Amino acid sequence: MGAGSKTVKDYIRTIVDFPHEGIMFRDVTTLFADPRGFRMAVDQMLHPYAGSRIDKVVGLEARGFIIGGAIAHQLSTGFVPIRKKGKLPGPTISEEYQLEYGEAVMEIHDDAIAPGEKVLLVDDLLATGGTAEAGIKLVERLGGEIVGCAFIVDLPDLGGRRRLEAMGMDVHALCA
Ligand code: PRP
Ligand code: ADE
Repeated sequence: MGAGSKTVKDYIRTIVDFPHEGIMFRDVTTLFADPRGFRMAVDQMLHPYAGSRIDKVVGLEARGFIIGGAIAHQLSTGFVPIRKKGKLPGPTISEEYQLEYGEAVMEIHDDAIAPGEKVLLVDDLLATGGTAEAGIKLVERLGGEIVGCAFIVDLPDLGGRRRLEAMGMDVHALCA
């Protein structure tokens, strides 16, 4: 296939049985490693928001930092990380969320977003939506207004899109 005809999905590889048996892991490192693929992903994730006011890009640990940082640079906005518990050095607020097995906690610095700021929430992949829901709640607790939630991959069978749309979110993904 010529590089000119490749889609974002063509740059993503699937690793079978990682990290557990039965999981088809969508590995976006191959997309990030390719200059054309990475640029295409950034441009396509921004396309729905052309003309929208965005003050901050918020990225979810860990792969949301890579794509979110690039998007923030392209928009000339600030970037705010949402991290797993215990990683952020300053005062934080936190939200619990469900994993496949058990629970985890996400945190944001309590001064990272000013009330009324317009936020684009970014991650590499939407599965059950638990991680993104925790991120949305953290941003909204600080008074931020989510303009949209942008993902590279949506796994529709896992229900994340429905879950976020039920919260009133505008959800965009580049591929399934
Ligand atoms: C993956 C992915 C999303 C999340 C999606 O991250 O990057 O953040 O899972 O799953 P969900 O929609 O069911 O919540 P992971 O938890 O593997 O963390 P990592 O990026 O730090 O490896
Ligand atoms: N997070 C949850 N499910 C995933 C998958 N299949 N590939 C990559 N990240 C994931």
